[in-house]
Amino acid sequence: MTSPVKAYRAAILHSIADPAVVGVEQSYEYFEDGLLVIENGQVAKVGPAADLLPTLKGVEITEYRDALITPGFIDTHIHYPQTGMIASYGEQLLDWLNTYTFPTEQQFADKAHAADVAGIFLKELLRNGTTTALVFGSVHKQSVDAFFEAAEALNLRMIAGKVLMDRNAPDYLTDTPESGYADSKELIERWHGKGRLHYAVTPRFAPTSSPEQLSLAGKLFGEYPDLYMHTHLSENRKEIEWVKALFPERKGYLDVYDHFKLIGARSVFAHGVHLCDDECKRLAETGSAVAFCPTSNLFLGSGLFDLNKLEEHGVRVGLGTDVGAGTSFSQLQSLNEAYKVMQLQGKKLDPFKSLYLATLGGANALYLDDKLGNFLPGKDADFVVLDYNATPLISYRMQQAKSLDERLFALTMLGDDRAIKETFAAGESVHRRG
Ligand code: GUN
Ligand code: ZN
Repeated sequence: MTSPVKAYRAAILHSIADPAVVGVEQSYEYFEDGLLVIENGQVAKVGPAADLLPTLKGVEITEYRDALITPGFIDTHIHYPQTGMIASYGEQLLDWLNTYTFPTEQQFADKAHAADVAGIFLKELLRNGTTTALVFGSVHKQSVDAFFEAAEALNLRMIAGKVLMDRNAPDYLTDTPESGYADSKELIERWHGKGRLHYAVTPRFAPTSSPEQLSLAGKLFGEYPDLYMHTHLSENRKEIEWVKALFPERKGYLDVYDHFKLIGARSVFAHGVHLCDDECKRLAETGSAVAFCPTSNLFLGSGLFDLNKLEEHGVRVGLGTDVGAGTSFSQLQSLNEAYKVMQLQGKKLDPFKSLYLATLGGANALYLDDKLGNFLPGKDADFVVLDYNATPLISYRMQQAKSLDERLFALTMLGDDRAIKETFAAGESVHRRG
């Protein structure tokens, strides 16, 4: 089915490469008065309005004033069942899991509950300008059916998987190596590659899976093309000690996943706060990715992520919210906290690097940069319209700003869901701020 050509006129900004590789100036394209032309849910053209307008006879043009169009944000690590427990007080990782997370996830045995939360969750992502996410379900396969049904109805590009967890968790929340494998396989057959949906084999983290379960997860990961593997790695010091005690024969935390064939292209590890050089090297040489989750790392007191170290080793890094340990669905707020994480280490985070992390860098981490992350022709038309007048303070700050990088930086520091005027997925409007 073909849909009519549509065009959107505003300031337009997109990343075209990693600033760490090409330098900041070569990393983006900006059109002060730009036009984004969409055809059949994909980008047809982007460029200066003055050049493109004469080529568009009879095309519907939507114009935004005091606004900036960027690619949709990409969240490389988030848990949809934890939506209702975001901002739960006072614990670090392992106590937080036992006190808040496991009881909350128990409710997802009920498909109707899962469907309700999936709807709330996706709405919240879109309100925050996030158009693609790599998402943990719960251990229940119906939680993933509910999620994919909701994502499919909105024609979103989403990646999700059922949690694999067969030990060190309450009985009400565990599967077995065999049932986890079979349920995941059933979900892969049903959803992987359907429309814009992808499946991720999802062992929660090394402590909650037996060697037998990790072994079957590794087998499954190798059985289908383009599957993802999604888990947690080296988030918290007590967690790391626990992994050492559970797997004494392994060299370290990453080596557990390596041993069970769970690393490689499309393997995404959340956190990686306490990685050694050898682990960074191994992540880079296998094409694995790490999700930097600043609001979560601060909230759970996990530590400060060393972005520069991973970058120097050539590890793919995306940005994650990690809701519900993360405290915001907003990638702008995640970038705000990421900047502070860097400051606390005496380092900088350039605003164009921030843009890259939230868009093209995320697409690269997920091996989706042929489809997402910027406005090259043929990519999915997933984009957001940011409002320079979102709040009185943002509006006043924008009046003082003298350059694009100043405006972009202030937007990442002050912006949140209020800064998202409209969100588009595959060329269709999926959120318009009231
Ligand atoms: N490690 C294992 N499970 C979780 C989880 O749900 N959230 C976070 N932040 N870390 C984890
Ligand atoms: Zn997480």
